[in-house]
Amino acid sequence: MRAKLFALLVFISLAVAGFAQPAKRTYTIGMSQCNLGEPWRVQMNADIRAAAAQHPELKVVFNDAQNDTLKQRAQVEEFVSAKVDLLIISPKEAQPLTEPVARAFEAGIPVIVLDRAILGDKYTCFIGADNKKIGKAAGQWIAKKLGGKGKVVELKGLMTSIPGQDRHTGFREGIAGTDIQVIFEADMKWLEPDARKEMESALSRFDHIDLVYGHNDPGAHGAYLAAKAAGRDGIAFVGIDALPQEGIAYVQQGILDATFRYTTGGAEAIDTALKIFKGETVPKKIVLGTRLFDKSNVATGGEALP
Ligand code: FRU
Repeated sequence: MRAKLFALLVFISLAVAGFAQPAKRTYTIGMSQCNLGEPWRVQMNADIRAAAAQHPELKVVFNDAQNDTLKQRAQVEEFVSAKVDLLIISPKEAQPLTEPVARAFEAGIPVIVLDRAILGDKYTCFIGADNKKIGKAAGQWIAKKLGGKGKVVELKGLMTSIPGQDRHTGFREGIAGTDIQVIFEADMKWLEPDARKEMESALSRFDHIDLVYGHNDPGAHGAYLAAKAAGRDGIAFVGIDALPQEGIAYVQQGILDATFRYTTGGAEAIDTALKIFKGETVPKKIVLGTRLFDKSNVATGGEALP
């Protein structure tokens, strides 16, 4: 009887102590991914998932907008109505996603914009690599590879997205003052099948092409497939992203001549979210570094660019 009473008392005091502890707060993060059709975006989500898994207090809800801007706008609005604690967004296009992101921010939801920037400043933090710098480095690498002269095809990423615009202007700066001629340029919207089609047109119009600059590795690879199918040899291919299983493997296999690392920023987004939850101030912009991978350095892990 006494033992039972004692056990009951212990139970009650433990329960009271437990009740007195503040409940451990959990945080829900809404992640709006513009599409999951490309390996790079699947990697971004995997990086976010892996980083968040280290912190049991975080719950990430992933949404895939399937490359549809209107769908992505609606998904941002849904996250706001659901009152998520923080929004991460990798927007398809800049202008049409600016307003829903601003509304989320103004509703008091911290917003981390990843990889493709939006317009204005109504968000908490932008995380991404410097696409102008990568484009310029690609231009300079190409100028060196071609000895300062040659005929180049430029297959551009979606030009309503900031990375497409910056990889284009950076590249033009990189080849400025050389005798490199861009004989054909087209918007392949980041998509390998579109790049392949555009390259087929370029091949039918031009007997001589020295090199293709694709704004991403799927684009450069699509162009390679078109050239191979047409039996056209002697063309070099350069891309951007450098995923181990994609661009780097292509360089190792001799399909691409060079690729530049475009870090997903997934891990950095979770780090930043944790700081925001702790009430720390975070920078408005976090710029991620890049690496060059070509035949000369791919075996030794590429080379960091200054
Ligand atoms: C994937 C992707 C990447 C590219 C990035 C630019 O959707 O096209 O290949 O580096 O988006 O935002």
